[in-house]
Amino acid sequence: MTAQVPPPRTLVPPGAPFSPEQQAWLNGFFAAVLSIDGAPAPLSAADNAALAAPAAELADNDSAPWHDPSLPIGERMAMAESRAPAPRLMAAMAQQDCGQCGYNCADYANALFLKREERLTLCAPGGKETARMLKQLAAEIGASVAAPAVVTERAVEAAPVAQSSPSRDNPGEAIFVSRRRLNGAGSAKTTWHVELDLSACGLDYVVGDSFGVFAKNHPALVDQVIAALGADPRRDIGGKPLRDAMIADVSLGAAPDNLFQLFSYVLGGERRAKARALANGEDPDGDAATLDVLAAIRKFEGARPDPEAVLEALDPLAPRLYSISSSPKANPGRVSLTIDTVRYRVGPRDRLGVASTFLGERVAPGEAVKAYVQRAHGFRLPNNPETPIVMIGPGTGVAPFRAFLQERQALGARGGAWLFFGHQYRQHDFFYEDEFNVMRKAGSLSRLSLAWSRDGSQKFYVQDRMREVGSELWRWLAEGAHVYVCGDAKRMAKDVERALVDIAAEHGARSTEEAVSFVGGLKKAGRYQADVY
Ligand SMILES: Cc1cc2nc3c(=O)[nH]c(=O)nc-3n(C[C@H](O)[C@H](O)[C@H](O)COP(=O)(O)OP(=O)(O)OC[C@H]3O[C@@H](n4cnc5c(N)ncnc54)[C@H](O)[C@@H]3O)c2cc1C
Ligand SMILES: NC(=O)c1ccc[n+]([C@@H]2O[C@H](COP(=O)([O-])OP(=O)(O)OC[C@H]3O[C@@H](n4cnc5c(N)ncnc54)[C@H](OP(=O)(O)O)[C@@H]3O)[C@@H](O)[C@H]2O)c1
Repeated sequence: MTAQVPPPRTLVPPGAPFSPEQQAWLNGFFAAVLSIDGAPAPLSAADNAALAAPAAELADNDSAPWHDPSLPIGERMAMAESRAPAPRLMAAMAQQDCGQCGYNCADYANALFLKREERLTLCAPGGKETARMLKQLAAEIGASVAAPAVVTERAVEAAPVAQSSPSRDNPGEAIFVSRRRLNGAGSAKTTWHVELDLSACGLDYVVGDSFGVFAKNHPALVDQVIAALGADPRRDIGGKPLRDAMIADVSLGAAPDNLFQLFSYVLGGERRAKARALANGEDPDGDAATLDVLAAIRKFEGARPDPEAVLEALDPLAPRLYSISSSPKANPGRVSLTIDTVRYRVGPRDRLGVASTFLGERVAPGEAVKAYVQRAHGFRLPNNPETPIVMIGPGTGVAPFRAFLQERQALGARGGAWLFFGHQYRQHDFFYEDEFNVMRKAGSLSRLSLAWSRDGSQKFYVQDRMREVGSELWRWLAEGAHVYVCGDAKRMAKDVERALVDIAAEHGARSTEEAVSFVGGLKKAGRYQADVY
């Protein structure tokens, strides 16, 4: 049988003002842009209908004034109020472009709008706030969501792509090798340097990428949840014991609205009203923010919904991303991560971050960890190894910069490298101090500027150190340095950007507006890149 050759695709309308040669070239160009992995992107019936429909506005970073992770959701939604459905969906996302959902914020919004994605709970940093807003928007704009829209390159990007190499949908198995605590014993933090072996699983990465990990819930927490439900841990659900499914498949973090909905079905009277109120995002007892799955089940003690229904009501356990802190050139077949342990107390019970405690405390050397590599979009070393780089990464934000420095050292790059690192106490929290000292001596780290926030009587942060050395920093910028920021998205990243604007204004003799547009220009030119969470 002969394979059918698809007819040539004519993406430029026949009446367009181009010569036949130009039309042929443009058709070829657009076909290439719209293709995935070199194969022509298949046009579905819906896409064809969409191509015939009037253009609908898709979400796009360039026309999204709300694209700022430090803005609260209320402000973002107000900014997008008069906009089309897809941009409004985008405004509901947490704006970190963190990739945890498997998309960027704009692409996730467009995928929902185009009905190529149905899951409304994927935005990890947005949490329940975002999930609720997406649910509300999806209900409000249901009709327009269903309406066809013009399929653009971005929309094609957002379409799920069948992949054979390990990915979020098809993770590989990395082997856990070791962990080492990076803080001294007196630190308030517990931060781990974690190493994994990739040699058998086909995962590869370049510096700047993040590592996605599918963690497991703490078995002791799972046992408490099952006991509170009065269920049998061995009960077979879909071919798996309940206990195994609860360990690996579902989130036991913040109780989802669907769980309260389920309680409202099995309860009566006042308890039903409370469960319904919680499902609607209300807070009848003032404790909604503290209700993880176990606390929610205990709050409605004796409700005893069917465990299978409980599993269905819970959100899937989402992978967590970690900035890769190694270069494959210095560590072939290995990857390292720099992980701060999330652990806090609510009432009598310790709450554990799932993935940070899984990697930092539970998984044992030799065990397999389901994982994938999340490619960086716009967080890359300059192509030219002579280009100077300035890296600003307090706390775990230092992770990708260790990788950058290892990479440049392995390449014998001669461009200057200036690292701003900060943390709470010099004595306890100076991650990778010995390595950085070696790099300083070797010349691969030209400058190291430190900021210890709790050593003095007043807080002192990386941006305070940047201001102190503003004139030299300005000189590096004038010489073409690329600037990188990594770490906390909510406050640090914004404050560091503000410091850079102030430095440009003071040392570049610019007005504030000019300095703001100078930093905007750096971003557009790919000379100011951020990896924030
Ligand atoms: C691109 C990217 C790169 C990242 N890189 C790193 C990295 O290099 N190193 C790193 O450590 N992390 C990094 N993170 C964060 C990481 O992905 C996880 O979010 C983090 O480890 C927490 O996950 P967890 O499963 O341990 O905690 P979860 O189970 O997800 O619990 C965290 C949640 O607990 C709640 N919480 C936390 N602390 C408190 C508190 N004190 N009081 C009340 N509630 C609280 C918050 O709701 C928080 O969202 C990165 C994130 C992204 C998106
Ligand atoms: N999703 C999660 O649960 C999770 C888990 C881990 C990390 N994170 C995020 O990742 C960030 C990194 O955590 P981390 O443990 O690496 O370190 P961190 O908590 O960010 O602290 C690193 C250093 O940054 C300082 N800092 C605080 N506010 C700052 C600001 N506005 N500007 C500049 N520096 C500031 C801290 O000082 P002080 O503390 O003395 O003020 C500390 O010295 C966290 O802030 C958090 O947002 C989230």
